[in-house]
Amino acid sequence: MVNFAPSILSADFSRLKEEVISVKNTKYLHLDIMDGRFVPNITYGPLVVEAIRPYSEQIFDTHLMIVEPEKYIEDFAEAGSDIITVHVEATDHIHRAIQMIKSNGCKAGVTLNPATSLSTIENIIDDVDLILIMSVNPGFGGQKFIPQMLDKVKRLNKMIQKSNTETLIEIDGGINFDNIKEIVDAGVDIVVSGSAIFKGDPQENINKFRRKLEG
Ligand code: DX5
Ligand code: ZN
Repeated sequence: MVNFAPSILSADFSRLKEEVISVKNTKYLHLDIMDGRFVPNITYGPLVVEAIRPYSEQIFDTHLMIVEPEKYIEDFAEAGSDIITVHVEATDHIHRAIQMIKSNGCKAGVTLNPATSLSTIENIIDDVDLILIMSVNPGFGGQKFIPQMLDKVKRLNKMIQKSNTETLIEIDGGINFDNIKEIVDAGVDIVVSGSAIFKGDPQENINKFRRKLEG
């Protein structure tokens, strides 16, 4: 069964607590951390993650879009992250970063920009709990889904089957009511969605996503 991870990047930050509570029925909450260097945009840091932690029982899925992610893994773990995901493009030592995430008591995820090949994770696939396929260039919400990423998800599924691991596949960027069905059919476990969920009534939008998958 597929699970949703609403991204609060598209939430109204003047009422962040209420926005977090409005999506409490999903298994995950997706937290987009941007540094203005790895990606052009800047968002928020561990302080905000810590501030919303008491208002959610969801799995906090922290997506680090920052250079030198090793420097901040401990801070995001202490702030209440359950999963910490780092970009393979953001560090020369992805294996070390994965070990650091685990030694800080979190599940470890790796993520790939749209142009990055799956071969970059071939040697670490057994070590990670989650692989996040970016289906837009990271940095902003509300962008258009890159259709070639469907094939990437299918190829990743085959890699995971071969390696006999339980690694989860997550997809992030440009998911809407029209493309959700074919994305889930390609074989993903977690769907991140920001603008489609937070534009309008979040709970109604999540229900709408679920209905699209039934029909
Ligand atoms: C983009 C972020 C996404 C973003 C998705 O860099 O990683 O998580 O919030 O937003 P939508 O669903 O609007 O594409
Ligand atoms: Zn994200």
